[in-house]
Amino acid sequence: MGLHIGIIMDGNGRWAQARGLVRTQGHREGLKVAKQIVKAASDLKIDFLTLYVFSTENWKRTADEVGFIMGLVRQYLKSEFNFCRENHIRVRHTGDLSRLPTDVAKDIADVCRDTEMFTGMQVILALNYGGRDEIVRAVNRALTGTAGKEIDINETVIADHLDNPDIPDPDLIIRTAGEYRISNFLLWESAYSEYYISEKLWPDWSGADLAEAIENFQKRERRYGGASYLSAPGVSHE
Ligand code: FPP
Repeated sequence: MGLHIGIIMDGNGRWAQARGLVRTQGHREGLKVAKQIVKAASDLKIDFLTLYVFSTENWKRTADEVGFIMGLVRQYLKSEFNFCRENHIRVRHTGDLSRLPTDVAKDIADVCRDTEMFTGMQVILALNYGGRDEIVRAVNRALTGTAGKEIDINETVIADHLDNPDIPDPDLIIRTAGEYRISNFLLWESAYSEYYISEKLWPDWSGADLAEAIENFQKRERRYGGASYLSAPGVSHE
């Protein structure tokens, strides 16, 4: 289908709370749903799916909760290789790997390498990810790559030094649990993304909700800063 969809998977804690469960139970359920959504997106022939798993701000949570989420991520990375092979799914990462626990960083690097040859959908795990942090790291990479020569920073230079410069900008960003916030997700890349807010909590999500979000997106008219009488997208927004 040629689409890049980003998802802010929100509401695990509230889902658990509403059932008198501990927050971590919500994350466990959230992981099950994430797996279902990856399968549904792959079946719908989505090209890129970016999942916001852990933000640079999520370290503020208790050590127990952070440890639990990291454990879930490691379990997921280790158990999904066959699923990825069967569905030709390539796993990638965005975020600051250098500030993740070394075991988690290694598991991510391993799965990215082991699935590199798969040519179906790409799942990008945003883990220790912050949109501002990614832009800062991109600028630093651009500056350190010049061997001391002065360069002009412009949009192309920044875009070329993002974590995954080959991946197209997201067409659609979905957020669950009824929050109308971007929360530092794909700040640079989402300049022209469409947004879809679902009132449902993430653990209540299903493939049908994803299909509904895509259907809603497909009815929209994207003008990229132009006007509807202009035929081609991508025109200047100046
Ligand atoms: C947001 O709910 C969810 C998270 C911060 C963690 C997301 C993690 C998973 C879904 C599991 C791992 C998934 C993969 C693909 C490895 P919240 O805790 O902010 O909920 P609340 O706003 O209701 O408190």
